[in-house]
Amino acid sequence: MPAAEDVARAALVARTALVARTALVDALTASGRIRSPAVEDAFRSVPRHLFLPEATVDTAYADDAIAVQRVEGVATSSASQPSMVAIMLEQLDLRPGMRVLEIGAGTGWNAALMARIVGPTGAVTTVDIDPHLVDSAGRHLAAAGVTDVRLRSGDGVLGVPDGAPYDRIVLTVGSDDVWPAWVEQLVPGGRLLLPLAVRGTQLSTAFDLGPDGVLRSHSVRSCGFIRLRGLGAVDEGAVEVPGVGSLLVPSDGPAVEADAVAAVLADPRGPSGPPVSLGRADLWDGFGLWLALTEPGAGRMLPSTDAPALVLVGAAGLASVVPGPDARVHVFGAEGADLARRLDGALRAWTAAGSPGGPDWRVAVVRAGSGDPPEGVRVVRTAHHHLLLDLVR
Ligand SMILES: C[S@@+](CC[C@H](N)C(=O)[O-])C[C@H]1O[C@@H](n2cnc3c(N)ncnc32)[C@H](O)[C@@H]1O
Repeated sequence: MPAAEDVARAALVARTALVARTALVDALTASGRIRSPAVEDAFRSVPRHLFLPEATVDTAYADDAIAVQRVEGVATSSASQPSMVAIMLEQLDLRPGMRVLEIGAGTGWNAALMARIVGPTGAVTTVDIDPHLVDSAGRHLAAAGVTDVRLRSGDGVLGVPDGAPYDRIVLTVGSDDVWPAWVEQLVPGGRLLLPLAVRGTQLSTAFDLGPDGVLRSHSVRSCGFIRLRGLGAVDEGAVEVPGVGSLLVPSDGPAVEADAVAAVLADPRGPSGPPVSLGRADLWDGFGLWLALTEPGAGRMLPSTDAPALVLVGAAGLASVVPGPDARVHVFGAEGADLARRLDGALRAWTAAGSPGGPDWRVAVVRAGSGDPPEGVRVVRTAHHHLLLDLVR
């Protein structure tokens, strides 16, 4: 029998949590992150703090991602940011009775939200690569009274065949590729939603599976997730430049030598071209995404002391631009002027196209070797597929 003080304390926590949860859901609804009654009901019903037993109630209901596991200081699991979870649940468009597979169980919170939406006639399976996390997700779900989520441990790039086919498959962990098992385990017309890393930019992309086996995006949103471990883990292409910091270049870009970049950066040749206005988001999305899709040598410089920059890298030169209201392209090294002209040209082309960002792109996922893409379509080759990107408008 719990002591009377324990009962009173639990009742107080539940009341405080309800107030905090209500405030969070009101804010997510007012900001348009939550749009549908089903997602709103799930957010109001599922107590997030029970999935974060180490966190205070205030922390559990702040609109922040909360790391729940770290390896050498790097987060390997987190409860995702509530506003991002809401955006993705709206993209997923769950209905009662649907069968769902989640890859990245983490705390179990998102699985509980989805179980609430699909209801007793639906089925939620969630898989995590880390058996310890699967155990703790099971405890959290039990504490929240959610008994109908199937938990599995394993590498989610292989899906979970024993519950297939699914109406919806959702990854809550970033991937560079669309793994064949996800397509195979989806019903015709089903939806796959994942944080897809496209040459360094993560896009939460909801794809519908067509009768021809092609996945076509229904909606695209900006996001930033922990990356897959296991079979789907990829080297994120960070080159440590001595005395400067990290240079991130897509794995399909030109080979970059750290010492050569350091030497080029020690040879500044001044600014070039007129000032432009770029926002902080343009590092990854907006112009950063455009540059990554149009220039093979595009990258991001993350200096340890200065502001991050978008760069174009060549063998003996570099051009960079630090996003800001009066951003200038800067030239480094003997071949920097040519790269600066290219960077300037990309800026003009992006502006002329209406400064598109992630949601303005559409993506199709086709099997490698499916023929030439139409004119103007950008192609990103992954191990399993080709991603075809063009602008919606
Ligand atoms: C951002 S967290 C997921 C958050 C979770 N959906 C929640 O509601 O708390 C990402 C999770 O993906 C898991 N993960 C990483 N690689 C994986 C893989 N190959 N297969 C399955 N899960 C993986 C991590 O262990 C981590 O728990």
